Amino acid sequence: MTDIKVELEHIKRFVPENQTDKFNAKIASTFKTIYSRTGAGNDFLGWVDLPSSITAEFIKDIKEKAEELRKKSEIFVVVGIGGSYLGARAVIEALTNHFSQMVETGSPKIIYAGHNMSEDYMSDLISLLDKKEYSMTVISKSGTTTEPAVAFRILKNHIEKKYGKEEARKRIVAITDKVKGALKVLSDSEGYKTYVVPDDVGGRYSVLTPVGLLPIAVAGVDIEKLVAGAQLMEKYCIDNQNENNEAAKYAVARQTLYHAGKTNEILVNYEPRLCYFSEWWKQLYGESEGKDGKGIFPASVTFTTDLHSMGQYIQEGLRNLMETVISVENPANEVRIPEDSVNLDQMNYIAGRRLNEVNQTAEKATILAHVDGGVPNIRIVVPRIDACVMGQLIYFFEIGCALSGYMLEVNPFNQPGVEAYKKNMFALLGKPGYEELRSKLEKR
Ligand code: PA5
Repeated sequence: MTDIKVELEHIKRFVPENQTDKFNAKIASTFKTIYSRTGAGNDFLGWVDLPSSITAEFIKDIKEKAEELRKKSEIFVVVGIGGSYLGARAVIEALTNHFSQMVETGSPKIIYAGHNMSEDYMSDLISLLDKKEYSMTVISKSGTTTEPAVAFRILKNHIEKKYGKEEARKRIVAITDKVKGALKVLSDSEGYKTYVVPDDVGGRYSVLTPVGLLPIAVAGVDIEKLVAGAQLMEKYCIDNQNENNEAAKYAVARQTLYHAGKTNEILVNYEPRLCYFSEWWKQLYGESEGKDGKGIFPASVTFTTDLHSMGQYIQEGLRNLMETVISVENPANEVRIPEDSVNLDQMNYIAGRRLNEVNQTAEKATILAHVDGGVPNIRIVVPRIDACVMGQLIYFFEIGCALSGYMLEVNPFNQPGVEAYKKNMFALLGKPGYEELRSKLEKR
């Protein structure tokens, strides 16, 4: 079984039943296409049985390395971008203290680099690292991505100056392709500890490889439980390759709504710890479906925060929206609203109640208001946020994305479009081999 439940009560008035039936009828064969690896992009389906293929030995190795790095680091820098960073950040932020950068948690502070090109960001990071004990991982499957390559060049220089080459080498872990790419060559020549990103797992599906698991373990999260959650969801999907599967219900709902004109999906959370999970989800769905002139545009909000900024548009703007709420039933901790004898703010009517009751009431009220305003609502309910549930959510959204992408008739595992800006940037920066494009772009 799975802890995840998908509720579709609030899409019914927006979709004709025969539309849902049409997509439901495709589910069993689409599952078969995925699990028999016969569809488009089938050389990138390594994530499908990744959870069940993770061995105890592999977990032990990651945990040992993580422990060694934890002992010598106040800060652990994760250098990577896109699929080589978002999964780790999503899980770490979901499962660690909201204020872990400010309070003592017993774990190194996790800081990210190589996910932007900002000189000020890098300058502030270097100033911080001057004063702190640190180690780092550089993650790049291709080993040639500009952002992490530039950041790593700068930070390698810094760490070698700070600790000397010998010690610096022990403080760097590279996660990259098993044989090819500049990072692999560099790691071999420098003698870094390396982990492999499997050939058949694309960046956005790689969180359960060392790409995600090493940083997550350094942050002090129980990776065994995370993997166990993903294994549970994998087994559930293998055993339930039908339209009643919770991930299939999600995939069918969003495809049905898309074909009814709801072209933008907003992933909603009421728990700010899930903010980066939404960022991970946006990459997963945006890169997988947005091609061939098709695809649902993925956006995200954190409520109730964004009800005070995006709420107006969602309620009354262009009616091409659908919302998917990740609803968490039980917070880990309890905070009650106190009674106030003066009651100037007139909040005594909710005194004594838990904050979560108000949060859940805000969710109910918002769903009804948005549905009345013309925004269908998919509700994904989980009992709590812990490592096991996060593992389940990861596999749930991965399989949901593959089902959805195949039903949309795109290859959900490639991303040809991300090359266009890169070519222009290389040309404009003067990379050898791009001279012709450079002169064309400069004329524009
Ligand atoms: O999903 C993808 O393929 C991308 O987001 C990549 O993960 C991202 O561009 C980083 O690539 P690399 O790991 O090769 O540096």
